[in-house]
Amino acid sequence: MGYYKDLREHIAALDEAGLLVKIDEQINKDTELMPLVRWQFRGLSEEERRAFMFTNVTDVKGKKYDIPVVVGTLAASRQIYGFGLQCKPEEIVDRWNKAQSNPIPPKIVDKAVVHEEVHNGSSLMDRGGLGEFPIPISTPGYDCAPFTTASHWFTKDPETGLINIGNYRGHIKSPTRTGVFLSSSNHGGYHWRKCQERGIPLQAALVIGAPPPVSYTAPARIPFSVSELDVAGGLAGAPIEVVKCITNDVLVPANAEIVIEGEISTEFLEPEAPFGESTGYIAERLLNPYFEVKCITHRKNPIFATIISQMPPSESSVMRQVAAEGNYLRFLRDQCNIPGIVEVTFHSIAVRQICVIKMKKINQAHVWQALHSMVGYNPATGKMVIAVDEDINPRNLDSLFWALAFRMQPHRDVLIIRNRTPQMDPSAFPPGRELENSLDEIAGCSAMLIDATRKWDYPPVSLPKKEFMERARQLWERLELPKLKPQDPWFGYNLGLWSDEDEEEAQLALKGEHYQTGEKRAQQRVPAKRK
Ligand SMILES: Cc1cc2nc3c(=O)[nH]c(=O)nc-3n(C[C@H](O)[C@H](O)[C@H](O)COP(=O)(O)O)c2cc1C
Repeated sequence: MGYYKDLREHIAALDEAGLLVKIDEQINKDTELMPLVRWQFRGLSEEERRAFMFTNVTDVKGKKYDIPVVVGTLAASRQIYGFGLQCKPEEIVDRWNKAQSNPIPPKIVDKAVVHEEVHNGSSLMDRGGLGEFPIPISTPGYDCAPFTTASHWFTKDPETGLINIGNYRGHIKSPTRTGVFLSSSNHGGYHWRKCQERGIPLQAALVIGAPPPVSYTAPARIPFSVSELDVAGGLAGAPIEVVKCITNDVLVPANAEIVIEGEISTEFLEPEAPFGESTGYIAERLLNPYFEVKCITHRKNPIFATIISQMPPSESSVMRQVAAEGNYLRFLRDQCNIPGIVEVTFHSIAVRQICVIKMKKINQAHVWQALHSMVGYNPATGKMVIAVDEDINPRNLDSLFWALAFRMQPHRDVLIIRNRTPQMDPSAFPPGRELENSLDEIAGCSAMLIDATRKWDYPPVSLPKKEFMERARQLWERLELPKLKPQDPWFGYNLGLWSDEDEEEAQLALKGEHYQTGEKRAQQRVPAKRK
């Protein structure tokens, strides 16, 4: 198992594999860059999406940047996500499971390429502070500023010393100040509250452009007691090399492109946003902490990394979805000890609100244990949780709707539970209410648990048996008919309710002996009742 040691190695590999689009034409980072990349999420199939690199970037004031911008390198598609971990898309969940079962602590080094250039103290503004970097506007026309998006915030727990990595947006407010949105359920927010209790600011480092395993760990929800640097090492299969920041004790990847060191005030908040959110709507202005830059370090000729987020599907929704699928599978199967869990699927457009648990059912109680446990992981995830049988393909909406239509009765198989957290969900309340952490806030949010598994034996699926469909496919291809994309289910199979006699009659039909069955039916004639 190998891993890319830094963003550069990763980009070179993407390029070689034909997964990178390089744009050398001049592109305005504020008005053109993100809208251009957005088109691939609004006009291409997932397989066609690519990573992008912009080498000739300007801004609305005509400033030219000598730093290129990359976007989509981490997760323009599941394929690209797998590529970043050097595995196939279907192996990603397993990689996540192994990483969490075998975390590898980082290796601390003294010398680091990320310290090749240091802007500190009186030299902090030599290259314009944060103005040195071509930070794009993600949603021109709505966002109130450029925001960092592939922004991995490294913070240290003031009590345990554990380093947390969280991906949080960074609202650019001045050359030395950003806003930061640390939601209360995230670990960065937890560190912030612990510092607030102690009356100290939160020391932090904003890392841009890290080795891919670090970037994939940043938006993943890892248990509080686990060091995320160790999990990143587990994903890499080797220790991540880290170096101490120049102005504080936080450890950051030694091979990062850019590290912005500073502290987050725990005394004051400032309005932050509007900025587009993963719900697909613009998030309202919020009162949030701010980060004061103390030192900027970067490699020579750094690359500025971004993630295209906001309206799903996006690079951000792919990242969250993929990490969550692995984490929830592990949680249900290994931590809640529920037998028969096969797969957990999240639907990109719904971020983590619609989830499907595929189960090889042992009994109905396990189905309900899984449905309840799923919403126990996080108070804001899983507005609709659906359990399906093993033969349903949860990624295929036709297959899912088929299960909902014919394996479920709402009055019996649906349970609404309350006291959930809305987290940015605009359907929860009308705007403008001061609700955060109030009783009203949780009382107003709910989740729907749906058991869409078969409760008893069913007759077979009404499609030709597999052997006939396979032969027909060969015939289809020989006739050079349009290329098929098989949809599950594409052949019939038994679901328990099929007698020897039913089978015998079907076999007779295949031998052209169906008159025998007709004869038998005549013997079984009964008087018709008057209606
Ligand atoms: C592009 C992107 C931007 C994100 N922005 C934020 C944010 O601004 N605030 C936040 O609390 N979570 C944000 N998230 C989600 C967190 O990264 C995620 O919840 C993660 O689990 C946080 O890590 P933590 O639990 O270690 O704090 C973002 C995720 C992505 C992919």
